[in-house]
Amino acid sequence: MTTTKDIERIEYTPQVAAATAHIYDKICDLVPEAEWRLQAPLIHEILRLKQEVGAVILAHNYQVPQIFYGIADFQGDSLGLAQAAMDVEEDTIVFCGVHFMAETARILNPEKRVLIPDLDAGCSLSESITAEDVRLMKERYPGVPVVTYVNTPANIKAESDICCTSANAKAVVESLGVDRVIFLPDEYLARNVQKETDVEVIAWKGRCIVHEQFTVDEIRGYRRQFPGLVILAHPECSPEVCTEADFVGSTTSMVRYVDDSDAQRILLVTECSMSDNVQEAHPDKEMVRPCTLCPHMKKITLENTLASLRLGRYEVDVPADVRQRAHQALARMLEIGRDD
Ligand code: 13P
Ligand code: SF4
Repeated sequence: MTTTKDIERIEYTPQVAAATAHIYDKICDLVPEAEWRLQAPLIHEILRLKQEVGAVILAHNYQVPQIFYGIADFQGDSLGLAQAAMDVEEDTIVFCGVHFMAETARILNPEKRVLIPDLDAGCSLSESITAEDVRLMKERYPGVPVVTYVNTPANIKAESDICCTSANAKAVVESLGVDRVIFLPDEYLARNVQKETDVEVIAWKGRCIVHEQFTVDEIRGYRRQFPGLVILAHPECSPEVCTEADFVGSTTSMVRYVDDSDAQRILLVTECSMSDNVQEAHPDKEMVRPCTLCPHMKKITLENTLASLRLGRYEVDVPADVRQRAHQALARMLEIGRDD
């Protein structure tokens, strides 16, 4: 783990203050000035180094506002970031997200250097299944195509017919023109897709440790406590929780919903840094913010992002044979694109 001790102290000079003032204007409601005086020099140095190295920073919607607004060139959900990764012209991509996202960028861009600031930024869904499990499922259901959520390592994608994200899961399932599919590894996403389609969805038992925490009682409690509340849920929540929501979709579709809606009071049933980011974009709205952090996403910090750029670490790579097979499954999904 990179700590501030690994980075020599960079001072908060008047020059740093002036160069970063436009960023602080955006996030000053969330970041106390004393904290900003420590973070602004890191942001300033990351922005300088990004130019020097020829790097682009891609950040997931769950990254903290200092990363999301301070240093990212592109922000988005898993699908949006995979698409953005393919358009990058610079030689280096620094991924402020979790490992499977960086790996996806690498699979789609084998000629680029893809760095992740902390190799331990994993995902409970990615860890819920092995390639051997997928092979056993295929043996058990011969001829049934395998749809794999992108929240998986490359070797699982390589065993699959096609990938999907929360932004296109139903469209991907229906694109196959079959009566049933094996859908891995998120049980709740699979069950949420099943509610929307006549295709039989055979699920695995993976869960997201963040979204499985939300309960129906809790959501009903929010509705009672906050009159007029509009509730948006991520489809990694249980189907019962999703039924309580006014809208269910990917993180980017939730952002779009808030952008386009007149709703004044909104609850995002998902990781809570995203509510901070959306709140900053909509100071006129009231975001109700339960604190459910993803410990994996939170492994990415300004300190280790700076170290990543300085030291060229940690490079994400995928063996060529796995990459080629995983690429096929991703490319089929990208042809379908976004469906939300
Ligand atoms: P999105 O693709 O909707 O951003 O979801 C990614 C994720 O990890 C949700 O927990
Ligand atoms: Fe994985 Fe859940 Fe964290 Fe998303 S929020 S990266 S699905 S553990």
